[in-house]
Amino acid sequence: MFSKMTVEDVNVRGKRVLVRVDFNVPLASGEVTDDRRIRLALKTINYLVGNGAKVILMSHLGRPKGKVVDSLKMDPVAKKLSELLGRPVKKLDDCVGEKVREAVAEMNDGDVILLENLRFRPEEKANDDGFASKLASLGELYVNDAFSVSHRAHASVVGITKYLPSVAGFALKEEVEHLSKVKESPEHPFVVILGGAKVSDKIGVIRGLEEKADKFLIGGGMAYTFLKAKGLEIGNSLCEEDKLELASGIMDELSKKGKGFVLPVDVLVVKGFEDKDSRKVVEVSGIPEGYMGVDIGPGSVKLFGKELQGAKTVLWNGPVGVFEIDEYAKGTKGVAEAVVGLKRCFSVAGGGDTAAAIKKFGLESGFSFISSGGGASLEFFSGEELPGIAALMDRE
Ligand code: 3PG
Repeated sequence: MFSKMTVEDVNVRGKRVLVRVDFNVPLASGEVTDDRRIRLALKTINYLVGNGAKVILMSHLGRPKGKVVDSLKMDPVAKKLSELLGRPVKKLDDCVGEKVREAVAEMNDGDVILLENLRFRPEEKANDDGFASKLASLGELYVNDAFSVSHRAHASVVGITKYLPSVAGFALKEEVEHLSKVKESPEHPFVVILGGAKVSDKIGVIRGLEEKADKFLIGGGMAYTFLKAKGLEIGNSLCEEDKLELASGIMDELSKKGKGFVLPVDVLVVKGFEDKDSRKVVEVSGIPEGYMGVDIGPGSVKLFGKELQGAKTVLWNGPVGVFEIDEYAKGTKGVAEAVVGLKRCFSVAGGGDTAAAIKKFGLESGFSFISSGGGASLEFFSGEELPGIAALMDRE
């Protein structure tokens, strides 16, 4: 159950409603190349427009470090949003100040405005109280519809909630509901697949889910730290030397708890990232000196597929290989296909790279839910309450 108030619990008619969205989308040559995050916000925006609110949208884009960066202006986003909404979206040149106040004062019910990139102002990331109050003064109600930034205690996510009644949008509510189902009441067997470069990024998730999950399947760069902790030679593969002890400890702990912890049995290795022709599959006990692992091998894909059989809940965060390079993508594709092939299984994928991999393989519709969040979903599964969600008004 979602415990926070939503846009449906308040009267929005005629009100100036400030909506924090996550329009941090990829751009190329001034065009939005993946509009998923914009589409996610449409339900809330259309609801507000349809109910006669004046909609003031705000987002960050990239990491401009508190300065105006021309290539990170919100214009391409406003253009794409306008296309998707089928109505004009007025993009302002700033997010606070006199001109912004004037433009907001001229709005009619049903109008949509998009403020300029919040992170052009250093006060946004600093959660500056004065800045939060200036943003808040533009509206009468605050809506957070951005799960993927709710782990950031920034002015537009947390500071602003001190000044305005604050509720959730539809996308935020739906995402929390889907992810909570995995975190709190997963149907068993519950299998967690983790990949990506670093053990340190995923420790929180292992800790947060070690009671609920039945087994963990480990691939990607992080697998080599575990393999080395088991005493194997890993050549030039990624390794967090300072995490070896921790990795051993986790494996011991999980095995004492009777949880499965499955590492790759074979991997694809190359002499150098660019040296694709040097690639070969080797057993993990035989990674040659001078080679590095870039993907799990076919034996591991088969093993992971077997371990997934019968799973009723799957959470996947982190690709198991360097899927961006076609020659190193087979492992990640194999894992994605194995998850998609499971019957009656609630499958959730999280993390920007995992979502991008699933998209690359055209398997998006095979997953029950794909989280919009990278860092936010990791923190969510670590068991921490996200500050941007905690700050919203509770339901009675
Ligand atoms: C994301 O892309 O995960 C969110 O937009 C948050 O961006 P950030 O990591 O720059 O805060």
